[in-house]
Amino acid sequence: MSILITGGTGFIGSHTVVELINIGETPIIVDNLSNSKEIVLDRIQTVTGIRPKFYKTDLCDAEALDRVFAENPDIESVIHFASLKAVGESVAIPATYYYNNLVSTLNLCEAMKKHGVKIMVFSSSATVYGDPAEIPIKETTPLGITTNPYGETKKMIERILADIHKANPDWSVSILRYFNPVGAHKSGLMGEDPKGIPNNLFPYVTQVATGRRPFLSVFGSDYDTHDGTGVRDYIHVVDLAKAHLCALRRARTVNAVEHFNVGTGHGYSVLDIVKAFESATGRAVPYKLVDRRPGDIATCYADATKAKEILGWQAEYDMVDMCRDADNWQTKNPDGYVE
Ligand code: UFG
Repeated sequence: MSILITGGTGFIGSHTVVELINIGETPIIVDNLSNSKEIVLDRIQTVTGIRPKFYKTDLCDAEALDRVFAENPDIESVIHFASLKAVGESVAIPATYYYNNLVSTLNLCEAMKKHGVKIMVFSSSATVYGDPAEIPIKETTPLGITTNPYGETKKMIERILADIHKANPDWSVSILRYFNPVGAHKSGLMGEDPKGIPNNLFPYVTQVATGRRPFLSVFGSDYDTHDGTGVRDYIHVVDLAKAHLCALRRARTVNAVEHFNVGTGHGYSVLDIVKAFESATGRAVPYKLVDRRPGDIATCYADATKAKEILGWQAEYDMVDMCRDADNWQTKNPDGYVE
């Protein structure tokens, strides 16, 4: 029995592949390498002793995707990570984002249907809550108005999967709404490898701490939060990876569409992160307070009770682990994955 992992060489996908192998599952990776590198497979092999089967395939190519299923009749489930995911880029090239994220998912669902695969775990995002109607955010919190095409594709795909389940009640779909994944594998062999200037806070902080960039720009210091800077729910990528194992186990037993917030339930401001990083690593993170970033919200953190009660999952790593592991990865791989 195999599990198809779309986007399996990416940041969250690759860490999930490692955790799946660790519990004896057989992942098969499909990735077009548009935002990841093949060397990730070497690292997975070093960490686990096993090299997963890999297809360099674009999910928008329906025929190529069909061949992957045809060649692997033992695929019983899919964990669907593959997606374009840069918020700012999605505003600049919306059609590309809508086309890629929607067509790839529709092709995947068609191929699953054709080959009798009925179990999917889907990577969604807390971004579907927009500017959240309540804090902490529950799964019952109404979905909000998204501020960018990337977020809108996640909302649309959630809807598509719900409709597919309605028409095919024997499907099982577990929708995981991620909060802010950070950190890295403790080996220092795997981590986040953004292209160019990082958009997200953590990779930017690690690059400042290691001297690759002079200072962090803190986007906004006049939010209605304890110190004026934005508050988020940061979750260690290995905790997030393990949530997929629990979601898959659940989807194997329940024919339903279920939504789960995957966060720690704790909110940290940008300045909290700067302080936590400095104290966990002993490195200075110089920063400057600058204007707000368009589209940002003040506060976003999860009520993670549902995942604990139904999936039996909760985060185990704390902020010290997240800072230490992110720093370890950045220090050992100053230029990310180099082929
Ligand atoms: N921030 C800075 N400086 C930076 C980068 C970020 O001050 O250089 C601040 C942001 O303003 C925000 C916080 O750090 O307050 C976190 O920002 P990130 O860009 O790391 O993360 P976001 O919360 O904006 O977005 C992330 C993912 C999205 C996802 C969203 C879900 O990048 O894909 O979480 O809530 F949709």
